[in-house]
Amino acid sequence: MNEASARAFPNIALVKYWGKQDTSLILPVAGSLSLTLDTYATTTTVRLDPDAAADSFSLNGVPGAATPTQRVTRFLDLVRELAGSTARARVDSLSEIPTDAGLASSAAGFAALAVAAGAAYGLELDARALSRLARRGSGSAARSIISGLAVWHAGDDAQSFAEPVGGPEFKMIILTLDRSAKRVSSRDAMVRTAQTSPFYDGWISSTAQTLDAALAACHADDFTALGLLTELHALRMHALIQSADPPIRYLKPASIAAFDRVEELRAAGLECYATADAGPNVVVIARPSDADQVAAELVTLGETTVVGAGPGATLLPRGAAG
Ligand code: PMV
Repeated sequence: MNEASARAFPNIALVKYWGKQDTSLILPVAGSLSLTLDTYATTTTVRLDPDAAADSFSLNGVPGAATPTQRVTRFLDLVRELAGSTARARVDSLSEIPTDAGLASSAAGFAALAVAAGAAYGLELDARALSRLARRGSGSAARSIISGLAVWHAGDDAQSFAEPVGGPEFKMIILTLDRSAKRVSSRDAMVRTAQTSPFYDGWISSTAQTLDAALAACHADDFTALGLLTELHALRMHALIQSADPPIRYLKPASIAAFDRVEELRAAGLECYATADAGPNVVVIARPSDADQVAAELVTLGETTVVGAGPGATLLPRGAAG
């Protein structure tokens, strides 16, 4: 019985991915830029089980519900096709993301699954091939294959992978404001945005420009420019999402208050910038030397967790998955 375990971390985008040009290959309409975190790992073990009639999936020891199990099976089908295998597998995943932290688990989940399944099925995949494979599970998972700052390129199937970028050092302060589950998944919301927003074309062209500017800021080691672009792009994404019909609003009054507070802190000389994914929680970026102070200033708004740049997805030595 072949088995392999891998660990991967979530990532938070500075230049966001929102919209697919191909929903089956998961090709984005524009590139994006993110930081892979050093906290909240997902560890996944894949064991081939040629006698089993179907794949099985568990998350934190609990058998997966139908929808996540189907998503795992569809992903394993891609791996089996690459490997020329028909063997079913048992997939056991342990996620350290608190279920109510408001962080998406799919990026770390599919990055760990890509590495573990690739190895269990005997494929030899380099980082680029792993990133392309992880992308098929969840777009943002392409970036969790890579450590630290990662750019995920738009393009065709062969061109759309993530790779490392150098840039300024900074921390992220995760500000948990609302613990309820999101009402519209990012997958469904992306489709609605593409079909109904009158601003969608402008979003695609302006994101490509924002990404170029953010990469230039990274190359120049310019935290200020990168921070300003990060906040701008998050607010543009939320404006776009709100312009769908029917509208989708992920930001709550508490999220807006957090953006206001970050602006105030900046005006008072404490440099930090806010962003938010497809939900009400806010992530703030700050220079490493300012991160604890920024977290202390935000603590009246919600729970804060300071995180830094972490490693890409890695294969674990046999028996290390615990
Ligand atoms: O990979 P998905 O389908 O979970 O989409 C992620 C979308 C955002 O988190 C809102 C933006 C991003 O680039 O991560």
